[in-house]
Amino acid sequence: MSADLQKRIAGEAAAELVETGMVVGLGTGSTAAWFVKALAARGLSDIRGVPTSTATEALALELGLKLTSLDEVQHIDLTVDGADEIGPGLSLIKGGGAALLREKLVWEASARCVVIADAAKSVPVLGAFPLPIEVVAFGHKTTLIRLNEALRACGLDVTPRLRVKDGQMVATDGGNLIYDAACGAIPDPARLAEALKRVTGVVDHGLFLGLADEALIGQDAGVERLAL
Ligand code: 5RP
Repeated sequence: MSADLQKRIAGEAAAELVETGMVVGLGTGSTAAWFVKALAARGLSDIRGVPTSTATEALALELGLKLTSLDEVQHIDLTVDGADEIGPGLSLIKGGGAALLREKLVWEASARCVVIADAAKSVPVLGAFPLPIEVVAFGHKTTLIRLNEALRACGLDVTPRLRVKDGQMVATDGGNLIYDAACGAIPDPARLAEALKRVTGVVDHGLFLGLADEALIGQDAGVERLAL
C-alpha cells in the first residue's frame, strides 16, 4: 500500500470519530487533508471546524464545511492532525507544513487529540526529521545564535537552517520564519522543548509532547490504533 493510501485510510478512520454537534480542530498537511475530505463526505449536520492554517481553511470551505475560529469557541471537542514523526509515548515532531504554532494552539484547546499518519512516521526516537522552530522575523539571525547555544547546551551539535522555498524565506501564516534543526536523534525531547521556549525570538517549536491522546496509523493491513 502506498504512503498516500495509508494516510487516506487513517484520515477516513479519524473522520468516523466525529459526532454531530462537535467543534473539530482541522489539522494541516496531506494526511489531515484526507481527514477533512472524509469528514465533509460524511455530511454531518451541526459540526464546526477550526482550521489550523489558511490552506486547510480553503480546503474546508471548498468542501462546504462550516468553520469557526479558536477565539469564537475557545474549546474544541476533537482535533485530528498529521505529524512528521511519532515517537515513544505519542511524542511528536510536527511543523513540516509550517503550521506548528496554530496547530499547537488548537491542540492545546482540545479535549481530545488524534494524530493520523502513514506507517513510516512511527520512529523509535524522535529527531531524524529536522525539528521545525518558528521564530519572529525581526532579528532572526541573532535568534539563531542563541538557538545554537540552546541546542549545544542540550548536547545537540546542530545549526538550524532557515527554511527557504523557491529562493524565498518561508513565512508562516503568522508571518514568522522557520528554522529546521536536523538533530539526528533527540535523546531528551522534554529538555530540548523547554530550552527552545526560553530563547527570545522563538515563538514555538515542533515538539508536541503530552498532547496526543491517540494515533491512527495507516498500515498495509489496515489502521493501527495506538493510545496512551
Ligand atoms: C504541518 C504538519 C503536518 O501535520 C506534518 O508536516 C505532516 O504532513 P503530511 O500529513 O503531509 O505528511 O505538522 O505543519
